Amino acid sequence: MHPKVERILFSEEQIKARAKEIGSLISRDYAGKTPLIIGILRGSVMFFADVVKNISTDCTVDFMCLKSYSGTCSTGDVRTLLDVQGSVQGRHIIIVEDIVDTGLTLSSVKKIFETRRAASFEICAMLDKPANRKTEVSVKYAGFKIGNEFVVGYGLDYNELYRNLPYIGVYKQ
Ligand code: IMP
Ligand code: MG
Repeated sequence: MHPKVERILFSEEQIKARAKEIGSLISRDYAGKTPLIIGILRGSVMFFADVVKNISTDCTVDFMCLKSYSGTCSTGDVRTLLDVQGSVQGRHIIIVEDIVDTGLTLSSVKKIFETRRAASFEICAMLDKPANRKTEVSVKYAGFKIGNEFVVGYGLDYNELYRNLPYIGVYKQ
């Protein structure tokens, strides 16, 4: 275990097993709809790959990179550093995110896709931290619910570090 990790919450095996279940749910819910699965860079990449490998219906994939305007506290005003390619009008969108905390990021992403007239919009998140919510967002496909703790690993960072850890653990402050 990494010295900056207090304890492991979810092992790679647990995460992959949950991603497989979510992939099956998406395959069932979107059969014949060719959804566009969008991974939010950079935190979601590992979980994104695990989920997408388990989707058996036709789908397309793309990525977005977002940045909050303010430094430490989330304002919900997000800047798009990298956008999806082409039109999303009429597409069924599934956003794959690492963690939903305040919910401000994803509620602003939802507005973007409403403006662009997507046919539908759902959220798939590896982790859901509902204790800290500032705006209501509905997470249709949630990997695991966690308490109000800061976690790292499996894509999640603290100051850009620890994304490479093959498990999700509580960060040692
Ligand atoms: P929010 O839902 O708008 O507050 O923003 C969620 C974003 O905050 C996530 O995409 C992460 O980048 C970051 N974040 C929130 N909680 C954690 C955590 O426990 N570990 C690592 N990043 C986190
Ligand atoms: Mg993130």
